[in-house]
Amino acid sequence: MGGSFPTIHPYDNYNPVENSVSEQTGTSIFDPVLCELVYKWFCIPQGSVLDPFAGGSVRGIVATYLGYAYIGIDLSEPQIQANRQQAEAIGVNPVWIVGDSRNVKEIAKGEYDLVFSCPPYYDLEVYSDNPDDLSVQADYEGFMNSYRQIISDCISMLKDNRFACFVVGDIRDKKGFYRNFISDTIKAFQDAGALLYNEAILVTVAGSLPVRATRPFVSGRKLGKTHQNVLVFYKGDPKLIKNNYGDIEIEDFENYQDLETGNNAEVSNGVKIGYEELSVT
Ligand SMILES: C[S@@+](CC[C@H](N)C(=O)[O-])C[C@H]1O[C@@H](n2cnc3c(N)ncnc32)[C@H](O)[C@@H]1O
Repeated sequence: MGGSFPTIHPYDNYNPVENSVSEQTGTSIFDPVLCELVYKWFCIPQGSVLDPFAGGSVRGIVATYLGYAYIGIDLSEPQIQANRQQAEAIGVNPVWIVGDSRNVKEIAKGEYDLVFSCPPYYDLEVYSDNPDDLSVQADYEGFMNSYRQIISDCISMLKDNRFACFVVGDIRDKKGFYRNFISDTIKAFQDAGALLYNEAILVTVAGSLPVRATRPFVSGRKLGKTHQNVLVFYKGDPKLIKNNYGDIEIEDFENYQDLETGNNAEVSNGVKIGYEELSVT
């Protein structure tokens, strides 16, 4: 699965603020290849998926296409309507619910095999003027209170011995310091009972970043950012992963000579699997 799905965001006409995800990547469409890997690597076959910040249609469409039962919640009705139209055009039927994920336990009652989402990065993209929208909270502390509550509720609905995955990027405060959103996310999951098991880097398209990053770097010593963090958490006993998930099936899995080191490197479909770290590029 290589292409991307068309996504209509309610904020398509919104003029993004400097440094927004759209500005950083040229798009905020979720990466469908990352999506497929997360489902195949970290969800049991035909498992159920809970997504508390559904956003665009990609995670829902890819899940349903691959045979997983997906429930995505988003505050934005226009976004959900657009998602449903796209899914219908493709011929799949994910479940999207319009609602405030602070009520996830009532809205999507049940137990799930994977929690998978891409949350608002505080106010980096502003999605609406709805006061329940996490991207319009008055300050970072207020945002974190709601964000931590949603993570805690979702992890309480995650079955034991299952994974959760959040894709996040750090954001700067008004003075220019990083808020440390990645660490705050890790802490929120840890406090909820799911511990950090993997971290991978999603390298995003540089696009116009080299041009936009020049002035902040030259005068302010700020490095441009062209990656996001793929955080994978696990709730339960890691010894049971082997039994519950089995071996990952990798088509055309062969040993290739690593051109740089001369060692054997295990490569499949362009994804190189290291022994200590996974790198999805
Ligand atoms: C980072 S976006 C996800 C977009 C993602 N990059 C994509 O296109 O797949 C986060 C989403 O969270 C939604 N959101 C914000 N506050 C929410 C809340 N309280 N409950 C549910 N969804 C919320 C926004 O409407 C937005 O669509």
